[in-house]
Amino acid sequence: MSPLMRSAVEAGYEGLARKAHPWEITPQKFFTGSDEFRATAAQLIDTSPDCVAIVSSASYGVATAALNLPIRKGQSILVLEEQFPSNYYPWQRMSDDKGASLKVVPWPEDEDWTAAVLRSLTEDVAIAALPNVHWTSGGKLDLVRIGEACREIGAALALDVTQSLGALPFNVRDVQPDFMVAANYKWLLGPYTTGILYVAPKWQGGRSLEENWITRANAHDFASLILYTKDFDEGARRFDMGERSNFALLPAATRAMKQLLEWGVTEISETSGALNRRLASEAAEIGFTSPPENLRAPHYLCLRRKAGIPTGLPEILARQKVFVSVRGSSVRVTPHVYNSAQDADRLIGCLRQMVSA
Ligand SMILES: Cc1ncc(COP(=O)(O)O)c(C=O)c1O
Repeated sequence: MSPLMRSAVEAGYEGLARKAHPWEITPQKFFTGSDEFRATAAQLIDTSPDCVAIVSSASYGVATAALNLPIRKGQSILVLEEQFPSNYYPWQRMSDDKGASLKVVPWPEDEDWTAAVLRSLTEDVAIAALPNVHWTSGGKLDLVRIGEACREIGAALALDVTQSLGALPFNVRDVQPDFMVAANYKWLLGPYTTGILYVAPKWQGGRSLEENWITRANAHDFASLILYTKDFDEGARRFDMGERSNFALLPAATRAMKQLLEWGVTEISETSGALNRRLASEAAEIGFTSPPENLRAPHYLCLRRKAGIPTGLPEILARQKVFVSVRGSSVRVTPHVYNSAQDADRLIGCLRQMVSA
């Protein structure tokens, strides 16, 4: 859960307060805020705004992908061991419903998730449902190579990049996913309950989870809404969630994405990467290991320890105002541009104290 920056909080307050004067929320405003969000998200992943749908969560996006991607009995869906549940359960249900199976890539001993995925991408795989970064190991997946391998065997690629978009450079043109979702509340520094869903042009005639009015071709003219139509607005807009024009959350999410674009995702990745490099080497001296630098995402450090993670570690650290989380058997350290070398020193100091106590 990343912090919301002050300018995003302000944009959110302003948006929320607008509802105190509802007559100011003209029909046009149901579209302008959404268009701005869509255009900003599109810029971030280097695609056209027409390919972006506005969703509430990663699970909403994955459910949309699962509703639209075809699979035959006997085929399989590829996921990683310990993958985040939002990108696991929909595929489990789909495989149960369709007589397919889940193929779980086992945790690679050498921490090389890309090689492990490439080995598992055999002819039986119809869908590879993957992240860019493994959320309990920090391991990075080379999605350009994985995308190529998927296309070679005719498998679809459905991505949940919630743990990387905004902090690790990502480009739809290079990866060519079929569907890609990211919740805004983590590395996009946005509010909770906003998300970006990329839908490749070949799937844009597909089926939405909901049948809502604003995604229809006639939605701009409120007077004609009762002239029911089966035609949709352009591109991926048909996949937008109901009440997608959220007047409080969208401006906050858009403001945060604009700030990320201004800072530069490559620069963010390098800045947090430098801090994590230092943390990884100092943590190693006190018995915490992490995947090799070339195999992990720069912004996302997961520390493990042979003797196990001391119980209550996040709470003990929090008392000293150092905040980390434990996921699986790893301590997850996720600094951002607001963290300094002194913060890194404090964390190491606290860990050193704990293991020597
Ligand atoms: C990899 C990943 N995907 C998605 C989410 C959030 O999922 P949702 O938006 O469905 O709540 C998280 C939250 O921790 C996550 O780590």
